[in-house]
Amino acid sequence: MAQSLASPAAEDAVREDLPALLADANARIAELALANARLREELRSSEALCREAERASRSKDDFIATVSHELRAPLNTISLWSRMLAQGGLCREDVLQGAKILERSALTQQQLIDDLLDLARIARGQLRLELEDTPITGAVEDAIAQAMPGARERQVELAADLGGGVEPVRADPNRIQQVACNLLANAVKFTPPGGRVDVRLHRVGDRMQLEVHDTGIGIDPDFLPFVFDRFRQGTVGAARRHGGLGLGLAIAKQLVELHCGTILAESPGPGRGASFRVCLPLGRPPGEGRSLTSDCA
Ligand SMILES: Nc1ncnc2c1ncn2[C@@H]1O[C@H](COP(=O)(O)OP(=O)(O)O)[C@@H](O)[C@H]1O
Ligand SMILES: [Mg+2]
Repeated sequence: MAQSLASPAAEDAVREDLPALLADANARIAELALANARLREELRSSEALCREAERASRSKDDFIATVSHELRAPLNTISLWSRMLAQGGLCREDVLQGAKILERSALTQQQLIDDLLDLARIARGQLRLELEDTPITGAVEDAIAQAMPGARERQVELAADLGGGVEPVRADPNRIQQVACNLLANAVKFTPPGGRVDVRLHRVGDRMQLEVHDTGIGIDPDFLPFVFDRFRQGTVGAARRHGGLGLGLAIAKQLVELHCGTILAESPGPGRGASFRVCLPLGRPPGEGRSLTSDCA
């Protein structure tokens, strides 16, 4: 039988201290449990960060592959046609056609590079507006003129009603033209032959509204919430068939928001067309040379 060697006085003292010791031990256990839970949470979030970094790295790889593909296609055309033109022996008609194809391929490449440069400026918060008081009718007309040859070639009717756009907007006309060009390029690209694209500019309350409506392939409701995300394109097959980097709408959204405006996409669903609506404030100067990081409040 075990016998205590401590004196009764010492035993009493231990017995007295016992509740405090137990409370202390319980507090330490609770602390350790909390630290453990915190560590587990940190582990979980670092695993999530790791997965996110892997996903970002994969999407960067995909993006590099897409950029290379998109740049190589017009480059191949340029190489082919410049070789054919250099060899000589082509009739005048073929030479003219070759020159047109060369110009179009170079423009396609220029557009891709401009979009990539804008993307880099947006990422660094260095995109700036050159604001002036201007009716944006001219900018939209220029965008329509730019889209017209493509629409004709695809046998897509392109109609415009810009009569309501006479009031000046505090805007950067080049950037508004870029927004309109991106919306029109998409509308033409995603509308099959025989379809129609309508552009309308009119005042709604204290805002100028630009609408681009098409009768094209429409947008899946599942994809609609992501349509303005960079690098996002609709169903893979269709997007790859139509080409592009998935940047046009992301850039358009940034540009519109820099003007303190809003941009919305609507579609009743696949095969039923799409509408994009840009609203820009009238007479509310957002401030000269604002950078991307400033807000519009
Ligand atoms: N008018 C439209 N009709 C149908 N789908 C559209 C339209 N505009 C944009 N989209 C969808 O949104 C995606 C992103 O558009 P965008 O950012 O301009 O990239 P890209 O034109 O390079 O694919 C497109 O790939 C397409 O799936
Ligand atoms: Mg596009």
